[in-house]
Amino acid sequence: MSNDRELLLRLVHEYSSPLYVYDIGVVRAQVQRLLDSVGWKKKQILYAVKANYNPSILALIREMGLSIDTVSPAEVHLALASGFSPRHIMFTANNCSDADLQEVHALGVLCNLDSLSALRRFARMFPGSPVCLRINPEITAGSHKAVQTAGVHVKFGILPEDLGEVVSIAKSAGLSIVGLHEHTGSGMIDPEDYLKGAKKLAELLTPQNFPHLQFVDFGGGLGVPYQPDTPELPTAILGAKLSALFEDICKSFGRELELCMEPGKYLVAQCGTLLVQVTTLRNNRGKLIAGVNSGFSHLIRPVLYGAYHHIENLSNPSAATAIYDVVGNICESGDYFAEERALPEIREGDILAIRTAGAYGASMASLYNLRPLPGEVSVENGKVLRHIERRSNKDLSSHFR
Ligand code: LLP
Repeated sequence: MSNDRELLLRLVHEYSSPLYVYDIGVVRAQVQRLLDSVGWKKKQILYAVKANYNPSILALIREMGLSIDTVSPAEVHLALASGFSPRHIMFTANNCSDADLQEVHALGVLCNLDSLSALRRFARMFPGSPVCLRINPEITAGSHKAVQTAGVHVKFGILPEDLGEVVSIAKSAGLSIVGLHEHTGSGMIDPEDYLKGAKKLAELLTPQNFPHLQFVDFGGGLGVPYQPDTPELPTAILGAKLSALFEDICKSFGRELELCMEPGKYLVAQCGTLLVQVTTLRNNRGKLIAGVNSGFSHLIRPVLYGAYHHIENLSNPSAATAIYDVVGNICESGDYFAEERALPEIREGDILAIRTAGAYGASMASLYNLRPLPGEVSVENGKVLRHIERRSNKDLSSHFR
């Protein structure tokens, strides 16, 4: 999406800002790239829908034959309503209630349980059912502490030393453990980080413990470059090494299994741009501060993880640069999109493009300060596929009355 300036300006003119724009062609290319890179034939890619719920993205994911990873009952309902069959949906719950499990199990969706507690409760409620188990391989990966999801002190997954108990609970309730799963962190650029977790999980696979096993899911976590000129994940290398490892796994297991992966960010981060308009310029004794009509309620990654999102001034791209803080309209002083960023001269009214905002942008947005969520437009080859309108201020206020 680098030569898309005119299109973006046209869209913001038509639909106003703040506006999320998703280039569906970028998602299509990323899905294809991942499918092509994993040579192992019996494979399934599950899109981690929490990264972005946009209907055009979901339609493409279904069209390309992917499945869906969900983490709440409402995500399961969304996947079903988007045309995915229950057997193409997995429910990877964390700290889920009995009510969550009952609702999802009744929909015929496979539950991926990530604690002994959940397994015991599931065994009592649904003896004789198939189940998947999320293992904590104690391998820590991920670009920020908040997105590292394995290791002895994190809240996810069943530790290897508890597998004996897992097997005995499953046996006595007649549960068939059809899948083993891990997800170690988000934002991996070095394939070895992903493969380390996969190797650790492989050590735990024995046909004696898991006679009903059908698939192994190595989770998501594949990263993308957020900054220009930074390396990208060598997907072909990851796919080749993972396939080779999986071949060994199946050989020592004694039969062919299905290889599953669960990417979110890798598939959708690069398709998205958040368009905002500069409302206010300040010069605080030489410090330039550009205030825009959006804030961390619309894109929280910079504030929550110190994440870098590239920003372009679409309205004045060739001007000389100056150093700016780009800040939002939320009533907190930590409301930053960028600090001390070199940008072409910013004027009030300019449109800024905040890049690589397709994953965990809109899906993590909130109504804080009662600013409506941004509108969303999906496009492919320059054509608008769908527009989701921003709610009006008055309509939003009625939500609480
Ligand atoms: N599978 C499970 C069970 C997950 O919990 C996640 C993400 C994924 C797959 C997909 O991970 P991905 O491929 O997108 O890294 N909000 C953070 C990322 C949090 C990821 C949480 N779990 C961010 O904006 O960087």
